[in-house]
Amino acid sequence: MGDQSHGKLDLIIPVLLFSLLFHSSLSEIIFEERFEDGWQSRWVKSDWKRAEGKAGSFKHTAGKWAGDPDDKGIQTSSDAKHFAISAKVPEFTNQNRTLVVQYSIKFEQEIECGGGYIKLLSGFVNQKKFGGDTPYSLMFGPDLCGTDTKKLHVILSYQGQNYPVKKDLQCETDKLTHFYTFILRPDATYSILVDNRERDSGSMYSDWDILPPRKIKDVKAKKPADWDDREYIDDPNDSKPEGYDSIPREIPDPKAKEPDDWDDEENGVWKPPMIPNPAYKGPWKRRRIKNPNYKGKWKTPWIDNPEFEDDPDLYVLKPIKYVGIEVWQVKAGSVFDNILICDDPEYAKQVVQEVFANREIEKEAFEEAEKVRKAQEEEEAQRAREEGERRRRERGHDRRYRDRYRDKYRRHHHRDWDDYHDEL
Ligand SMILES: *[C@@H]1O[C@H](CO)[C@@H](O)[C@H](O)[C@H]1NC(C)=O
Ligand SMILES: *[C@@H]1O[C@H](CO)[C@@H](O)[C@H](O)[C@H]1NC(C)=O
Repeated sequence: MGDQSHGKLDLIIPVLLFSLLFHSSLSEIIFEERFEDGWQSRWVKSDWKRAEGKAGSFKHTAGKWAGDPDDKGIQTSSDAKHFAISAKVPEFTNQNRTLVVQYSIKFEQEIECGGGYIKLLSGFVNQKKFGGDTPYSLMFGPDLCGTDTKKLHVILSYQGQNYPVKKDLQCETDKLTHFYTFILRPDATYSILVDNRERDSGSMYSDWDILPPRKIKDVKAKKPADWDDREYIDDPNDSKPEGYDSIPREIPDPKAKEPDDWDDEENGVWKPPMIPNPAYKGPWKRRRIKNPNYKGKWKTPWIDNPEFEDDPDLYVLKPIKYVGIEVWQVKAGSVFDNILICDDPEYAKQVVQEVFANREIEKEAFEEAEKVRKAQEEEEAQRAREEGERRRRERGHDRRYRDRYRDKYRRHHHRDWDDYHDEL
């Protein structure tokens, strides 16, 4: 750079710096991996489990069906193996800023049992040894096993201990690409998005058992003696109408008539039968009214938890230095892609939209692949049926042959084949 250019640079640098600072205050992409050519230079395959022959490998591919076959990810590619790979990210802290962690995964395989999550790692990690025991600061993503487990993990590390989210979150289970997004804000609130749709949200204070609860129920509290929790009361102003108690329960039936053939001498004087008195309303009761002094049901009050000690940095992860995939899978074939770490949920949203512009193509490609697979299955079933049929025919042939032979034997020896067998 010649001396002449200094004047120009003096002008450009402050402008550049200003725009960089200004931009970073808006949003920053800390790490983005689309697994384009050259990804190998950023990722380190771990040798964890390799000596035991249990380390799986990754293939650079878009998989069997894709929205864009040229948009490759990395796919787990050997069954019943451990997969561990990681990349360095520019060290950063999420203090005072929103953290967005997002990636896509496609479970092409019938996984049976296995993980599909990613991890953020802090401190120094020997990437060649990165494995299941390597401490992490965040573990996020799906974990499938059998038909029952379809968990969406969010495990946060706090002071060296791992805390899983208390909620039972579920992941997607079909064979298409899905985006998982975790957003953690400086007020310790979080959101979890699946394919850009909010799956859940809440606060680290309530949804992880990291800190004791801020408020607890006051177990020593008692309902005050004068607490009126009767919603309805007898109306004290109601009074018994005069003569109420002298209304008879039954009265003579006014419609009854003395029968024509009634014989007073024989039956005594005729009396009409008694019937219930419609005017009789039972014993007098005061009218029920709303209690003007009703204070509602008494509830145990909440009080400040003496055990609670706030940590304003509850949401702050140890400075992040790596992102890694470390999973075990019974059946391999998951494609990881579009890993993003940034501080801007809007940008993350755009990435999903951009990739999902091809979603219909992926669905069609999947359905096409399904048709082929089903046709193959049908063909194999047909072959198996034919093979079975052929075997049955052969057995049938043997029987007929034997029957014919038996007839011949009978004719020649004038005795029965079965008798002959019994003698043997
Ligand atoms: C984060 O914000 C708090 C309060 O606004 C401030 O005291 C602190 O210095 C900030 N930390 C960083 C690393 O910017
Ligand atoms: C009873 O009547 C008095 C006088 O009208 C009134 O002030 C009072 O509120 C009434 N009590 C109830 C419980 O309604």
